[in-house]
Amino acid sequence: ARAPRLAAELLDWYDRHARAMPWRTGPAARADGVRPDPYRVWLSEIMLQQTTVAAVKPYFEAFTARWPTVSDLAAAADADVMAAWAGLGYYARARNLLKCARAVAETHDGVFPDSHDALLSLPGVGPYTAAAVSAIAFDRPETVVDGNVERVMARLHDEHTPLPAAKPILTEHARALTPPVRPGDYAQAVMDLGATICTPRNPACGLCPWRTDCAAWAAGTAPELPKKAPK
Ligand code: ADE
Repeated sequence: ARAPRLAAELLDWYDRHARAMPWRTGPAARADGVRPDPYRVWLSEIMLQQTTVAAVKPYFEAFTARWPTVSDLAAAADADVMAAWAGLGYYARARNLLKCARAVAETHDGVFPDSHDALLSLPGVGPYTAAAVSAIAFDRPETVVDGNVERVMARLHDEHTPLPAAKPILTEHARALTPPVRPGDYAQAVMDLGATICTPRNPACGLCPWRTDCAAWAAGTAPELPKKAPK
């Protein structure tokens, strides 16, 4: 079948090309099935909303050095957290960050819940973050869809329906490809593919592990996808 083969090919690519990030485990730990700390995954995913990986890295390092656990963060003074967040922007994220840390500390004894639904009930945790934390930290077969994933799916399927109408179609494509094995690595692999190979402009199709299955590659339409409805 095609879906398991595509997942296996992408995981093989990820094993060779995963970007090193401070919230990821290294290749050796990954091979041993060691999962990253849910606190670090959650913190990174909140920081990465509307902010690039390069900009997030130093903030992530500073936060985790100062507040190594979610309970440490929950006990922090509001003003200290807001000051440490300064420069990242979208300050509602920082206020929700503290609310969520305190909810995990108080309601869950400082242990991040491992189900999608329990995660979703936390302050500031929407469907994207709940799926990302359950997939990446708990290796649950959740489908994580961000802009990178939408672009990869639009191209793989040569989907010309413009965004945002295409969203449910692209989400369904992403869901159909999510494997039961290593779903956390798979989720990050699709995001890395979109960030490094299947880029918005000048995609590096020659380096893509999915090229021979890519409908947009065959049609020559990759650079123009996904289409966007005029504002
Ligand atoms: N963007 C948001 N979260 C990410 C992750 N875990 N890996 C790569 N890109 C991301």
